[in-house]
Amino acid sequence: MNAPVITVDGPSGSGKGTVSRLVAERLGWHWLDSGAMYRLVALAALRRDMDLDDVDALRGLAAGLDARFQADDAGDPVILLDGAPVGAELRTEQAGNAASRVAAHQSVRDALLERQRGFRQPPGLVADGRDMGTVVFTEAPLKVFLTASCEERARRRYKQLKEQGLSANLLALSEELAERDRRDAERSVAPLKPADDAVVLDSTHMGIESVLEEVLRLARERGLTD
Ligand code: DC
Repeated sequence: MNAPVITVDGPSGSGKGTVSRLVAERLGWHWLDSGAMYRLVALAALRRDMDLDDVDALRGLAAGLDARFQADDAGDPVILLDGAPVGAELRTEQAGNAASRVAAHQSVRDALLERQRGFRQPPGLVADGRDMGTVVFTEAPLKVFLTASCEERARRRYKQLKEQGLSANLLALSEELAERDRRDAERSVAPLKPADDAVVLDSTHMGIESVLEEVLRLARERGLTD
């Protein structure tokens, strides 16, 4: 019932997705990619040609979202929306920016809250997002807030998109990232900010491996793992 939770929050491109997934893998815990939920709502809305400011329609969409989180034979995540795998479309900047817009509505967040909490299953959960430590899992025994400079985050996103064979422009990415950060941090509901009891890690000059080791060290220090 009360499986332990490690929250990893932070801005886009801070490395929290990769780090939280690796931490979950190393501990053999479940992983919640909460950003994917907002991306799915956004994608479902775009596919239905809905207005991203139509709060009532979005709330209904989020509450009835037909999304499933599965893994393929290699253990890699497979996300189904309306019964079909979404793939790379979910990771585009268009989906990310639209997700940031729908995520600013309190009723959309409320509609997804219990679904997110449902991922808390034994032996434990690593939850990745913006408000995992401040709203969704406030009593988590380890909260990490992962950040990095805006330039470094834009550079990482650029590399990531290129690796996925998607087109990208560094300057445009950097501007979009700054705009998304501003919207996520300045919104009145569940704004992006470290929880009071979060450990803030700046990964600007750290590789993924060092961040991973530091989070695992903190987890050991708090008695969450041997
Ligand atoms: O982590 P991500 O880039 O996949 O998230 C996409 C957007 O979803 C992000 O810009 C803000 C929103 N989001 C949120 O508001 N709260 C979360 N817990 C996770 C994501």
